[in-house]
Amino acid sequence: SVVILDFGSQFTRLIARRFRELGAYSVILPGNTPLSRILQEAPQGLVLSGGPSSVYDEAAPRPAEGVLDLDVPVLGICYGMQFLAQQAGGNVKRAGKREYGKADLTRYGGQLFAGIQGEFVAWMSHSDSVTALPEGYQVVAETEDTPVTAIENPETRRYGVQFHPEVVHTPKGGQLLANFLEQCGVTRDWNPEHIVEELIEQVRAQVGSGKVLLGISGGVDSSTLGLLLARAVGDQLTAVFIDHGLLRLGEREQVEAALKPLGVHLVTVDASEEFLGALQGISDPEQKRKVIGREFIRAFEREARKYGPFDFLAQGTLYPDVIESAGGEGAANIKSHHNVGGLPDDLAFSLVEPFRTLFKDEVREIARLLGLPDAVRTRHPFPGPGLAIRVLGEVTPEKLDILKRVDDIFISGLREFDLYDRCSQALAVLTHIQSVGVMGDERTYSFTAALRAVSTDDFMTAEWARLPHEFLATMSNRIVNQVHEINRVVYDITGKPPATIEWE
Ligand code: XMP
Repeated sequence: SVVILDFGSQFTRLIARRFRELGAYSVILPGNTPLSRILQEAPQGLVLSGGPSSVYDEAAPRPAEGVLDLDVPVLGICYGMQFLAQQAGGNVKRAGKREYGKADLTRYGGQLFAGIQGEFVAWMSHSDSVTALPEGYQVVAETEDTPVTAIENPETRRYGVQFHPEVVHTPKGGQLLANFLEQCGVTRDWNPEHIVEELIEQVRAQVGSGKVLLGISGGVDSSTLGLLLARAVGDQLTAVFIDHGLLRLGEREQVEAALKPLGVHLVTVDASEEFLGALQGISDPEQKRKVIGREFIRAFEREARKYGPFDFLAQGTLYPDVIESAGGEGAANIKSHHNVGGLPDDLAFSLVEPFRTLFKDEVREIARLLGLPDAVRTRHPFPGPGLAIRVLGEVTPEKLDILKRVDDIFISGLREFDLYDRCSQALAVLTHIQSVGVMGDERTYSFTAALRAVSTDDFMTAEWARLPHEFLATMSNRIVNQVHEINRVVYDITGKPPATIEWE
């Protein structure tokens, strides 16, 4: 294996992910992990991650005693390289110029760059630089601003790169990491099946004979988690799916059909009357979200008491949530993140979060291996408050019913014309605008529906999807013909920012 020592970089997890993509097994351990613990992993190579510290700070984190004496290849990235250089007798200084973003290597070579050709774009993020080389080392890459961008000691197989080979902005970084694996002599046969087996083992070890509660939202993360837990602990799991009446047409049935046959002990609770009752008379978007959040916790607590007591609460927390809430050792706190806020003390469980080290696409891959049907596995994200934030203003059963039919025509249409997977999220909105139309020979005065589709990587910013006009025409036709309460259909051509993806 490769052991990655984490000195607090936000990208540490990505190093493990790249190794995984290359078929190599790696583990991330805190930067100061004792040698004895590291040896348990039978390391064939070590990576020292980046981090926010400066090597000349008094409190600068460092590997434990003896770790760097191991006779295995070592790759230092950013802070890791500076540490290697300083520790071997070189010098590190605050650079005159902070280098941030993409930089072209003006020259590169050596073992790490073996076989790499053409331009090499490197993602930089540093304010310290190596200014004097330790003995035995040579410079193997430079940029215009940083004369010492990569170093190596071919004899001791110590390597350092100032840039981040693990991020996508360093397109040839994967090849560089593959070269490092080659130096380590790591076999590249690690695959997603291994990950599933490992996760199952971990869950069994953590849960023992305890009882586990899981909330199912209908999305890919919680559904996959349900399948994994059912495999790991069988009937010790109770999965609760609260139908708040704000789901899309047929969604509840689809989730049940996906999970029950695969052995998930699924309890579906129809709480739509409570939710709709609580939403009556409320038209402010934030107020609607609050009411739904409150009702959700109420319903979930009630079911937990009914089927409990439980020892564990399972959550589909993903790695990006962990980074954001500073779960990774040393990572700077970016924002606090609450998946399940507000559960009362007498329902205090230990958390089971098997996906804490994974990214979304890895969960999708695991979902495929566990047999989650494509319809659920490749589904667009859907907000917790559901259709309530897509019926503008007050939510009534009648309006929900209209929106469900419009949404179904649009989403089925996207699938039918092979456009669903080409957008990141698509939705329909029922506006409160009524306008004049003519149908047959009759004047109508009915509602306007809006369609929205976006493409985005992270949902923080988004482009409106350039759906073909012919497709939009077909959708508009189907909607006004099949949903009589609608006489006008518009397509949202606003990006985020300035608009958000949802309308409320
Ligand atoms: P916005 O509308 O803020 O949405 O551009 C970004 C992404 O977040 C989803 N979203 C929510 N998800 N609870 C959720 O679980 C919410 O209250 C909520 N509001 C927005 C939205 O669907 C999009 O994917």
